[in-house]
Amino acid sequence: MKIHIINGPNLNLLGKREPEIYGKMSFKDYFTELQFKYKDVEISYFQSNTEGELISEIQEADNNVDGIILNAAAYTHTSIGIADAVKAIETPVIEVHISNVYAREEFRKKSYISPNVIGIIAGFGLKSYDLAIQSLIE
Ligand code: DQA
Repeated sequence: MKIHIINGPNLNLLGKREPEIYGKMSFKDYFTELQFKYKDVEISYFQSNTEGELISEIQEADNNVDGIILNAAAYTHTSIGIADAVKAIETPVIEVHISNVYAREEFRKKSYISPNVIGIIAGFGLKSYDLAIQSLIE
């Protein structure tokens, strides 16, 4: 099984960025843990701060992997382009957020992506990604 994780803007700063919200661990370290835990799953990872690159990555991953775990970060709340890309592809997408976006500012409660994903996991810290992997495996 192949799972591709796509992370949006500022998620390259995990560990340093607002650690009280996003935790103290870098995604690189967490990704190593995930690969260790799910040895039978081929997990790949892409991060970009650029909307167009995220759209291209979603298109390229389509039909090359069994599932996509997408944390579009701030673009979740603004990007019709990313939402359209998610709608256009056949590969199942799970929307993930580290924080509970529904317990934060009003603007974080709107997701353009949610209508076209198979499910949403938010608020469990980095473990949200682990839960998404488990959901795709099952
Ligand atoms: C986030 C939540 C977004 O609102 C925010 O812009 C992010 C990260 C999360 O994982 O909790 O950058 O997607």
